Amino acid sequence: MTLTLVVGNPKAGSRTLAVGAAVAAGVRGLLGDVGEPAVIDLAAFGPALLDSESEPVAEALRTVATSSVVVVASPTYKATYTGLLKVFLDRYGNDGLAGTVAVPVMTGAAPIHSLATEVHLRPLLVELGASVPTRGLYVTEDRFGDLDAVVAKWLEAAGPLLLRAVRG
Ligand SMILES: Cc1cc2nc3c(=O)[nH]c(=O)nc-3n(C[C@H](O)[C@H](O)[C@H](O)COP(=O)(O)O)c2cc1C
Repeated sequence: MTLTLVVGNPKAGSRTLAVGAAVAAGVRGLLGDVGEPAVIDLAAFGPALLDSESEPVAEALRTVATSSVVVVASPTYKATYTGLLKVFLDRYGNDGLAGTVAVPVMTGAAPIHSLATEVHLRPLLVELGASVPTRGLYVTEDRFGDLDAVVAKWLEAAGPLLLRAVRG
């Protein structure tokens, strides 16, 4: 059982990474038999993300595609996920994430875009063949200091669905 966090923020080490890490920790606690999550902070690749021959990017793509569970975290930019995340995911062919269970996570300044996880990020992950059994989690900036409670609340409904999807 493997768990990976992908963060699509053009700034490395972002608050969105911290939110994604809190979700990954919650998922790990739920599943039990999972090691430390692999963390792929896409900003760290810089221009290599546009280099189709970059081996570190190819390795990141393999890590995500072979994970049991992938937490995909992005800040909201212009009401949707970032272009950086899309550049990375566009590298996959059809059904490139088949066999993974994906958890969509977005951060935002305002609640007005809270459905972006459902209307934008979820369809992208489904198009790639991932199974997306839970509601996405949208976290506004004013809750960044309260991540344990935010994740625990989300897991109340998401936990049983995730367990069923992962354990079959
Ligand atoms: C270019 C840009 C566009 C943004 N667009 C939105 C938006 O449409 N809706 C929203 O709620 N927040 C928007 N924000 C705010 C970020 O989503 C929000 O601050 C996010 O939590 C930042 O995460 P970070 O601290 O990890 O960078 C935008 C921020 C930037 C820089």
